[in-house]
Amino acid sequence: MENLLKLVKKKTPVWFMRQAGRYLPEYRNIRQKEKNFLDLCFNSDLAAEISLQPIKRFNFDFIILFCDILVIPYALGKKVDFKEKIGPILEKTKKADEFRNLDYEVALNNLTPVMKTIKKIKKENIKTNLIGFCGGPFTVLTYMLEGGTSKNHLFVKKKIKEEREDFEKLIDIITELSIKYLENQIISGVNLVKVFESWAGLLDGKDYEDFIVKPNKKIQESLKKKFPSTPLIFFPRNSGKNIFAFLKNIEIDVLSLDKNFPKEILTLSEEKKIILQGNLDPQILIEGGKKLEDEVKKIMIEFSNNNHIFNLSHGISPITPIENVEKTIELIRKVNEARKSH
Ligand code: CP3
Repeated sequence: MENLLKLVKKKTPVWFMRQAGRYLPEYRNIRQKEKNFLDLCFNSDLAAEISLQPIKRFNFDFIILFCDILVIPYALGKKVDFKEKIGPILEKTKKADEFRNLDYEVALNNLTPVMKTIKKIKKENIKTNLIGFCGGPFTVLTYMLEGGTSKNHLFVKKKIKEEREDFEKLIDIITELSIKYLENQIISGVNLVKVFESWAGLLDGKDYEDFIVKPNKKIQESLKKKFPSTPLIFFPRNSGKNIFAFLKNIEIDVLSLDKNFPKEILTLSEEKKIILQGNLDPQILIEGGKKLEDEVKKIMIEFSNNNHIFNLSHGISPITPIENVEKTIELIRKVNEARKSH
């Protein structure tokens, strides 16, 4: 944690969610080499190369491991496919009992290519911090129950209502495996870890406590016990006011912010010494021009009293013009320079 604090005290570092992806021609080029997206994630040579592409092009301050949150259902023995223009398609999970014979070590073995990718990245670039990640247990479970991306999450809502105990068992299984997976990532060389709880905004009240706070807290506590110096980033997207329950219960190092976070977070994080990460709207990054320039400056000012890592409020869109990314980074670095000389 000291190293990260030192970095953010010196300047506002920058990286983008999904920085390794389809808006880059060099990514689209490699993408063609594997038909199946998961095969690309598990091809350590290519995955390491893709992870480093945005660093070579933009000199971002962090590398994020190229992989996906849906490798967990795959490791649990479920079929996971990615269809162009549709998104992920998963073999549906119905009951926790489907995993009665689960051996966590066997499941983890399915993810050893990811560890190989991490070692490769560190071998090629030792100086840039590498972020490992997994999905939040609830978010991963939504994909498993719905069989893909869902608009209304009917299966999830029905299951929480009618089979709450079974839902809890499934969350526990995913949490357990995710912790072991992240531990392996840290042992293999990642410097920070991020948990993407992208669908946290679906839940409220006791459901939010049980299925968002509890599992994320378990991940935080387990990792801190074994790896106290590895910073942990949490992204409970669209939590709204529930974010206060999240922060009250979990001692997090970095909070990744979406577009609509409650502004009290700014003072609360200052008091709690939480680093804030965010939160440029990817839509404005697509539009560019003066609007983008104004928004970047506004964000730099808004977070100037906090320890801040510049990022987006969600993943970068494939139609983002590269020059807008360049301009944004340039502007952030200019502000950093101006502050240094003050
Ligand atoms: O650059 C990075 O951020 C690292 C790699 C990364 C990917 N996915 C690569 C990817 C990370 C951190 C993720 C996280 C992820 N994956 C999340 C959480 C963040 C979020 O966006 O809310 C979720 C929900 C997923 C699941 C997922 N993966 C979906 C819904 C899709 C399809 C939608 C889409 O953008 O196509 C993916 C596919 C995916 N993951 C791609 C990439 C680069 C595109 C696939 C391709 O190139 O064919």
